[in-house]
Amino acid sequence: MTVSEPAVAVAHPNIALVKYWGKRDEDLVLPFADSLSMTLDVFPTTTAVRLDPAAGADHVVMDGAVARGEVLHRTVRFLELVRERAGRRERAVVDTRNTVPVGAGLASSASGFAALALAAAHAYGLPGDSRALSRLARRGSGSAARSVFGGFVVWQAGTPDAPDPDQDSYAEPVTDARLDAALVAVVLESGPKPVSSREAMRHTVATAAPYRDWLADCRAALVRMREALRGGDMTTVGEIAEHNALGMHAAMEAARPAVRYRTAASDAVLGHVRALREEGVGAWATMDAGPNVKVLCAGADAGRIADRMRAVTGAPVVVARSGPGAGLRAEDA
Ligand code: DP6
Repeated sequence: MTVSEPAVAVAHPNIALVKYWGKRDEDLVLPFADSLSMTLDVFPTTTAVRLDPAAGADHVVMDGAVARGEVLHRTVRFLELVRERAGRRERAVVDTRNTVPVGAGLASSASGFAALALAAAHAYGLPGDSRALSRLARRGSGSAARSVFGGFVVWQAGTPDAPDPDQDSYAEPVTDARLDAALVAVVLESGPKPVSSREAMRHTVATAAPYRDWLADCRAALVRMREALRGGDMTTVGEIAEHNALGMHAAMEAARPAVRYRTAASDAVLGHVRALREEGVGAWATMDAGPNVKVLCAGADAGRIADRMRAVTGAPVVVARSGPGAGLRAEDA
């Protein structure tokens, strides 16, 4: 590849069914526990990275606007890491396009850093397999480690006493899952969130007493979730996912001061999901660091659940199914 040719990568968001919330190492982005997600087939991020030997600084454009502040800072820090590993110095021009509303709990940082990791690794000639790419994406945003792979994915926390903990924490696909699941996303708000997930998880770990119990529960939930995925048991997968997500929100709300992403509108959707279950429809809710509710269900039920959610909320509803891992795209940026 010549220096002027851009490397273009596409990655999709993922939604965790057993959540990652809390880091044991902030700098290396190492979590306290394993997490498990499904990569989606909607809202891809496309990122082009081109090296510019004449530039004195990285230039980052996000959704058509020149990035500044925290977004620029995180991107440049990530590029520094790639340059250090590749033994290169050229600055980069990064052009990234999201199709997911940024910062609204629909995981744009997961697709964003997975796409950036792949495009930057390629542009700087950094060798490595997809496990290495997952480790690299993790350094940008923890959940991005999982978006490197498609379908159901587990991110291994790694062992704290490993000789090189950075090497020990990466995601890998769950190859024995036998479940056709879908997520019906009810988009209540698409603006940026008031508190970043990075800050909110730090604050939860530091001040919320119930966090420890939730974390212990995550470890057990992950084992049961893998078993349920193997057995194609939608009900167990749904129950574990809803319990895990609501437990995470309860822990945040117990922080001092409380972190509250759930709104009255979110609670109303949670009520609609419970009502569906009472009618015998297999539907379970999950939420991330934002007010939007995603309804987990069997693929075959997604259409009618989406219709119901549209009718009762009047909000935009998006049906997502299992999506692919990050990939390079052969085209000009
Ligand atoms: C609620 O991956 O955005 O979506 O590692 O600080 O960038 P950083 O956090 P991030 O957190 C995601 C939190 C979550 C749960 C999950 O995706 O597992």
